Amino acid sequence: MSSEKPMAADYVLETRQLTRVYGERVPVQALRGVDLRIRAGEVVAIVGPSGSGKSTLLNLIGALDRPTSGEVIVGGTPLSQVRDLDRFRGQTIGFVFQSHNLLPTLTARENVEVPMYELPMRPAQRRARATELLGLVGLAQRGDHLPNQLSGGERQRVAIARALANRPAIVLADEPTGNLDSATTAEIMALLGKLNREQGVTLVLVTHNTEVAAAAQRVITIRDGAIQRDVTMDSQLERELLELKSSALGQAILRGDPLPPALADLAPRLHELLERV
Ligand SMILES: Nc1ncnc2c1ncn2[C@@H]1O[C@H](COP(=O)(O)OP(=O)(O)OP(=O)(O)O)[C@@H](O)[C@H]1O
Ligand SMILES: [Mg+2]
Repeated sequence: MSSEKPMAADYVLETRQLTRVYGERVPVQALRGVDLRIRAGEVVAIVGPSGSGKSTLLNLIGALDRPTSGEVIVGGTPLSQVRDLDRFRGQTIGFVFQSHNLLPTLTARENVEVPMYELPMRPAQRRARATELLGLVGLAQRGDHLPNQLSGGERQRVAIARALANRPAIVLADEPTGNLDSATTAEIMALLGKLNREQGVTLVLVTHNTEVAAAAQRVITIRDGAIQRDVTMDSQLERELLELKSSALGQAILRGDPLPPALADLAPRLHELLERV
């Protein structure tokens, strides 16, 4: 049986001819046959105009919605064959969605604990893991704060900690930096990049922000429900330049802001390099 699609396990995430039609009387074809293959450890940005199908694709990948036709395969398992989708999702996928806001009556730590209720964990274990995760996102001192006692960037970091609670293979993020200023956006992207490098988390993020897209290794452009472009940065140098470009320093160089003396001499050359990637 496994010989039929020997490559399937190479990809942590695969879609085959995925379509989604919304509505019956006035059908909207939101996705028209999307074939996608994502390897473990990739950072993939999905970009495209409003209404092009980005969130629809992310919802199908995350098993939050069912396709009209086609298949989503996560870690070699077709979602159509999964009996308990809630459980599967809870153990495999972490979400950082703007619409999946933190629960306002729970503290930061309690919010991070929520996905762990899917697993057989004792309260003390949940608490310890949540504390560890809050430390990881730099919020060790904020565990007892309610969401409205945190800044937007801090709330988003809690959402990232929550997404990592069950050590998911894949983290899906829909506009993870949507409401944040550019400095906080750079901070959140640096954190996501670090989690990718250090924990091997595969990241798929939908974004309108070109800085965020530039930080990804691979950028998939969706238009009218289909993949229009799929560009992977092959060279390590190019990737690092893109990372620099999306950082606060890179943005300062591109704007021509005054830089510390040690960097001032390099600024024109760096500017030229960053313009090229
Ligand atoms: N629940 C729904 N019922 C009907 N149509 C929908 C529904 N959700 C989305 N659509 C339609 O499907 C298409 C794709 O929507 P989707 O939310 O995937 O776009 P998007 O690329 O995420 O856009 P944005 O950048 O604005 O978030 C749009 O035409 C939208 O109007
Ligand atoms: Mg959307």
